[in-house]
Amino acid sequence: MTDFAKLARSRLHRLPPISTTTLKLIELLGNDDYQTGDLVPLIETDVSLAARCLTTVNAPVFGLKRSIASVQHAVTLLGARAVLDLALQLSVRGTYNKALTGYASSPDDLYKHSLYSAIGARLVATRLIPSAKPQQAYTAALFHDVGKLVFSEFLSEQVTEPPPPEQITHFLRFEQSMFGIDHAAVSAEIALEWHLPDTLVQAVAYHHHPGSAPAAHRKTALAVHLGDMFAMMAGFGTQLDNMHYETDPMIDEYVTRDRTWEMQVLPELLLAIHEEYQTVISKFDHEEPSQ
Ligand SMILES: [Fe+2]
Ligand SMILES: [Fe+2]
Repeated sequence: MTDFAKLARSRLHRLPPISTTTLKLIELLGNDDYQTGDLVPLIETDVSLAARCLTTVNAPVFGLKRSIASVQHAVTLLGARAVLDLALQLSVRGTYNKALTGYASSPDDLYKHSLYSAIGARLVATRLIPSAKPQQAYTAALFHDVGKLVFSEFLSEQVTEPPPPEQITHFLRFEQSMFGIDHAAVSAEIALEWHLPDTLVQAVAYHHHPGSAPAAHRKTALAVHLGDMFAMMAGFGTQLDNMHYETDPMIDEYVTRDRTWEMQVLPELLLAIHEEYQTVISKFDHEEPSQ
């Protein structure tokens, strides 16, 4: 293990852990046979999540005529997926509201990038990759770049003058050449530290090289990879590494780049991702970014 890998590991503990409720929700929704009602006891014991569910359904944008005071009712109205999304967003919001100075990005860039990638990964898993697991792809994508929080410190401490963009052909290789480890590996270490399920850890670890992931995790990793790429294309990146995205050849197994792809499939997909992102931001995200 390189000195930087050791240093990265020692800094993981600085990040606040993921809440127990969120972990239980991830586990529950990872099985296909859950009932929405199964979520209620979990949410009722988590004051901040219960409050978030209630404020979300009672917000004017939700359009209800009377106010909702019961968690059970709020959960039924929101649906299981939206509740998990809220729990995940609540878990990462505070952690992600930090400028990645090493990547020259602003506070909130990592959150927006992760959310956009997550929505993209879920839609990619639904539309492009047969028998992929959309919810797993969403969750993995929300965590895929969390290692940049640690890595950003290395970059700002060690790299006073980053090389000109034209000299970097692939940012991941630049990280590896500088530090002997990259942000994907650090993100996976954090996912392990947070006790996230192995599928998510593997998808995070291989989000830049899904074709090299163990077979059982390849489709989820690919969905995250594409969601990540679409976020970059839409301008929701993390700055310094935006223009250095190398696509994995595995994409060609699922994407036939013909006229239909270029003229119809891709534009429709990008529009759907963008619309869902705007909906989430307007309906489910009421947190002001911290400075
Ligand atoms: Fe990444
Ligand atoms: Fe990313």
